[in-house]
Amino acid sequence: MRPLNSDTNYALGRTSHETTRLIEQSKIYGKATLRLCERAGISTGMRVLDIGSGAGDVALTVAELVGKSGQVVGVDVNPAILETARQRAADTGKSNVEFIAGDARTINFDEKFDALVGRFVLMYMSDPVAALTKLIPHLKPGGIVAFQEPEYTLYPAYQHPDTPLMNQLYQWIIEVFEHSGAHLDQGMGMYRTFIDAGLPAPQMHLQSPIGAEEKWRGYRYMATIFQSLLPLIEKYEIATPEEVGVETLSERLRAEVLLSKKPFFLPLHVTAHACLTD
Ligand SMILES: C[S@@+](CC[C@H](N)C(=O)[O-])C[C@H]1O[C@@H](n2cnc3c(N)ncnc32)[C@H](O)[C@@H]1O
Repeated sequence: MRPLNSDTNYALGRTSHETTRLIEQSKIYGKATLRLCERAGISTGMRVLDIGSGAGDVALTVAELVGKSGQVVGVDVNPAILETARQRAADTGKSNVEFIAGDARTINFDEKFDALVGRFVLMYMSDPVAALTKLIPHLKPGGIVAFQEPEYTLYPAYQHPDTPLMNQLYQWIIEVFEHSGAHLDQGMGMYRTFIDAGLPAPQMHLQSPIGAEEKWRGYRYMATIFQSLLPLIEKYEIATPEEVGVETLSERLRAEVLLSKKPFFLPLHVTAHACLTD
């Protein structure tokens, strides 16, 4: 078991660009998050804890779901990004959500929660099982646990010889996350994470947004991932900025997809949910 303070280097950085990228990402993965929360049983009046809130997208989605009689508490280790989350909550008139800065694994809360949610966060924690084990005591009996995490290890099964740029991009993503210590298999790994943390076997779904149309937002989104990853790609000497070519990446990707007629898929993600036994 790795100590809590040996977390991965957050490969995507802490810039304002990364905050914008998270908001853009939510436009792509947000519907799956909503479906996960609904399937998991999150509903009106519940009190929900969101781990690794970032710019607040999951917390804001859940705030809608639990309504005015419910409450959402979002936690993030990065205090700066929570300023954006708070502003977005205020802008949308959501008074049932609050954000707290700190490490979700060590914060104490006055009241227990009906549900615990998180998106794209366990993969960055040194030991996801230890993290979940620390978080579960904040739940009431019968409480819900719902996470959505990416899965990169299945990528080789999807390679097409006529989409070399797509192949190269996934290769770089895998290399940079490997160097940073992130869990590339956290999506599929959630089964083990849940079981080893003492939860019942989770219900799981594997999904990926895919697209091939000319105006698909996925090409630009992929370029924003590389803009965030570039500092570490350079630091680990995986590729040079010229080789990555962030400025033209979206266009080159679109051209490759249109030519190959093979849909481009964004990082696969897995949702998992379970309930504590009473
Ligand atoms: C990829 S972002 C995802 C943000 C948000 N869940 C979303 O889907 O838009 C991961 C977030 O988790 C936060 N994080 C990582 N480890 C954390 C921890 N131990 N406690 C609280 N937040 C953490 C990071 O600061 C970052 O903002």
